[in-house]
Amino acid sequence: MRLKDKVAVVTGAGSGMGREIAYLFAKEGAKVVAADINETALKETVSHIVEKGQTAIAVVTNVAKEEDIESMINTAVSTYGTLDILVNNAGIMDNFLPAEKVTDEIWDRVFSINVKGVMRAIRKALPIFLEKGKGVIINTASVAGLYGSRAGLTYTSAKHAVIGMTKNVAFQYATKGIRCNAIAPGGVNTNIGTTMSNPDPFGMERATAGINANPRMGESSEIATIALFLATEDSSYVNGVVIAADGGWTAY
Ligand SMILES: NC(=O)c1ccc[n+]([C@@H]2O[C@H](COP(=O)([O-])OP(=O)(O)OC[C@H]3O[C@@H](n4cnc5c(N)ncnc54)[C@H](O)[C@@H]3O)[C@@H](O)[C@H]2O)c1
Repeated sequence: MRLKDKVAVVTGAGSGMGREIAYLFAKEGAKVVAADINETALKETVSHIVEKGQTAIAVVTNVAKEEDIESMINTAVSTYGTLDILVNNAGIMDNFLPAEKVTDEIWDRVFSINVKGVMRAIRKALPIFLEKGKGVIINTASVAGLYGSRAGLTYTSAKHAVIGMTKNVAFQYATKGIRCNAIAPGGVNTNIGTTMSNPDPFGMERATAGINANPRMGESSEIATIALFLATEDSSYVNGVVIAADGGWTAY
């Protein structure tokens, strides 16, 4: 029970990595505030946890909305008394749109979810962490945040922003007992493909140019164990880093 009685908010908990993180954190004793825009999927996640006698509550949340972020964090405090761990994991893809085809609409949508949602959740969580002198933030970035062409322009820029944000928060709050780290997954089997309705053929061809070098796809459970490490005192001296989890893809 490595997270016994810790209160953890996990965004994007209705599917993929967020769901597996919610499952693993609950199994390790955390009280999980599961947040997702997809109410049906979210309720499935929470039922699965509660049926096992573990603890979780569902908060339907659109991370692109300030009021939803407010209520997500407020629910953690009103239901479980505090907040210890914030996992900013919700995210969407960008149809592989290359620079010449980026629309303001896709740019704003991806940034509002993948970047602004992360910033707002961190902003809302920090006063709680500062009062306690303790807190953990884990952001799901991507290898697209470390390299230039694993997605379209918008997603690539957004994940680079998440990594910048991770390092900024990590350093600036390091002396306050707060740690902030990111995970950069490679290709993981999840439902994220469903966020692409009409992939751009040129952008997709450029973004997948190195796919043959990918040793294998990963599973969400292989990302959840990294989140667990970052959430516990096992990683007490780890702050401001990006842990790539890609089976060796970017080592090529
Ligand atoms: N799957 C991959 O290969 C991969 C690789 C690198 C990084 N990532 C990142 O991992 C994270 C998790 O994605 P996943 O692969 O598990 O995808 P997924 O689609 O399986 O799960 C993402 C969840 O986020 C939710 N979501 C989407 N928009 C939301 C919003 N506005 N507010 C709240 N919830 C919202 C979805 O409903 C879904 O349940 C994302 O940030 C993604 O960018 C994924």
